[in-house]
Amino acid sequence: KGLGSIVNMRDFEVAAEELCSKVAWAYYASAADDEITKNENNSDYKKIRFRPRVLRPVKEVDTSTKILGYDSTIPLWISPAAMAKLGHPDGEVNLTKGAASTGIIQCISSFASCSVEEITSARTSNQPLFFQLYVNSKRHLAEEVISKVNRLGLNAILLTVDAPIGGKRERDIRAKGEFEAPKTDAFDKQGETKGVAEAIFSAVDPDLNWKDLKWLKEKTKLPIIIKGVQTVEDAVQAYKLGADGVILSNHGGRQLDTTATGLSTLLEIREKENERKFSIFVDGGIWRGTDVVKALCLGADAVGVGRGFLFAQTVAGVQGVEHAVKIFESEIQSTMRLLGANKLEDLRPSMVDIVN
Ligand code: FNR
Repeated sequence: KGLGSIVNMRDFEVAAEELCSKVAWAYYASAADDEITKNENNSDYKKIRFRPRVLRPVKEVDTSTKILGYDSTIPLWISPAAMAKLGHPDGEVNLTKGAASTGIIQCISSFASCSVEEITSARTSNQPLFFQLYVNSKRHLAEEVISKVNRLGLNAILLTVDAPIGGKRERDIRAKGEFEAPKTDAFDKQGETKGVAEAIFSAVDPDLNWKDLKWLKEKTKLPIIIKGVQTVEDAVQAYKLGADGVILSNHGGRQLDTTATGLSTLLEIREKENERKFSIFVDGGIWRGTDVVKALCLGADAVGVGRGFLFAQTVAGVQGVEHAVKIFESEIQSTMRLLGANKLEDLRPSMVDIVN
């Protein structure tokens, strides 16, 4: 079966499960506790109904946008997700190459299984790449990572804040086997026999707090986006303390179970302050072009997709990633046309309704 049998993003999920080891699948698919938040991430988008406007010319449709000033062919990036090599031997480099050829942006995880050097040497000359930062408890190690990110010319830092500790991922715990921890700079333990997540999080500083945003701003000139904001209060706090944006995210349901979904927090924000540019992104449960368009109607600047791209690279490496982007692009285009919009700026709250 070739990629022709992959018609939508969920097809990648089914195909990836067949290809993954038990340990890899447990790590990729799992979420915290009862996985209620993971499931709600998906089901929340189904509660939004479109209000399409008819008799508008839609032959031309443009899905392109700028994300933090960088061109993207669709309003969607590859969310940072650790350990791509669990699914495919080339790992994150698949994402880098697929992002380059389709013109989207990859966010590299602190716990990527390829080194940042490998990833940056696979990029095309002016390909934007964002870096997701976990702050190591040993602050000097975190500072080394940040100076490398600066030196290698990455383009933004996403500071993940919803994971001071790892969530209780039971599938991962049950599947734990021999796991060789990644040899990244953010990480100074190797050869653990723990669930993948448990091994990874032992290096993350649980005391990281708002004051550290000042520290980070001193260490880099790159835009800083706070990833894992789950309340309006924290989005406002991030804005006040000078972050360049937030990602409304619950980490794909992998951290605190029964928290708000990114979409529900987006709905609460309603109007964002506009005195200075402050970006609002959302991730979790985006599997369809309709999901992307709904988030944009409700004020998101762009969305992220985590598991979908891990599964796509697992199934077919770079080609899988390219195929995934084409699926999203074509679904976003047809959604916009059927909705009566031919550019992203046309997407408005009045084009959706919430059903209870
Ligand atoms: C993640 N995510 C994540 N986030 C982060 O900031 N750093 C990381 O290293 C990881 N690692 C990671 C591994 C795996 C296997 C998954 C599934 C997720 C969270 C990720 O960036 C994103 O928030 C979610 O994946 C979005 O939800 P969906 O698209 O998977 O539903």
